[in-house]
Amino acid sequence: MKGVVLAGGTGSRLHPLTQITNKHLLPIFDRPMISYGIEALVKAGVTEIMLVTGGNHAGEFLRLLGNGEEFGIARLFYAYQAKPGGIAEALALAERFAVGDRTVVLLADNIFERSLQRCVDAFGKQAAGARVVLSRATNREHLQHLGVAQLNGSRRIERIVEKPKDPPSEFAVTGAYFYDETVWDVLPSLKPSGRGELEITDVNNWYVERGLMEYDVLDGFWGDAGESIEAYYAVNDFVRGHGVNRET
Ligand code: DAU
Repeated sequence: MKGVVLAGGTGSRLHPLTQITNKHLLPIFDRPMISYGIEALVKAGVTEIMLVTGGNHAGEFLRLLGNGEEFGIARLFYAYQAKPGGIAEALALAERFAVGDRTVVLLADNIFERSLQRCVDAFGKQAAGARVVLSRATNREHLQHLGVAQLNGSRRIERIVEKPKDPPSEFAVTGAYFYDETVWDVLPSLKPSGRGELEITDVNNWYVERGLMEYDVLDGFWGDAGESIEAYYAVNDFVRGHGVNRET
């Protein structure tokens, strides 16, 4: 399985910190944010990775990660997103790297307490389609800033709603996504959303509509460190207190 780590975007919710660097290079406890996503993939056995970034600080990633060896990466590739046109647009840049294989996509501002190994293994057993990783969140205001899964009576995902005014469940869609090779045919069919971006939620709903979407529900803490300055510090506090990407 190939890994794609997305670290582009503007980081506008963390301005002015992100005027001087890329959001994913900001510190989380004792390391730059990007290290945790890389570690999550490597610990789950995904060691062929493409990092997609953009903006004015892309060169700093090369300075930090180099050829990836120190981070346990077998082969590290880089892609540059010219404009922040959305998560799905950033993913499309990885087509030539990942085509012919299955792909796990990780948003580089997402931090997971527990190892993603269980999800990687489950996707390995899935015949086809896609897989998302859900996290239970009880705060409705928080859910309004995320993608939220609507589940039907038999607990299948019926739809994913992006930034819902009225969240259809307590299950947030985290930034870890698994796709089969079909994804490269889905991406060119997307249309920009109201905010002018190619949305990963539209990709996920393509699979949902065809009955090809499975999911896992996470144990333990999950945080989106780019959601707000409060979220950034909450993630910092958690990582400092407990550590993340833990196998137990
Ligand atoms: O964190 C989980 C959430 O991430 C999901 O619940 C949502 O469904 C999903 O749309 C996404 O929402 P965000 O509003 O948090 O996405 P954001 O624009 O912050 O982008 C997340 C990461 O994706 C960002 O850290 C870097 C990468 N990205 C984003 C954009 C817009 C890119 O690489 N290029 C881009 O153009």
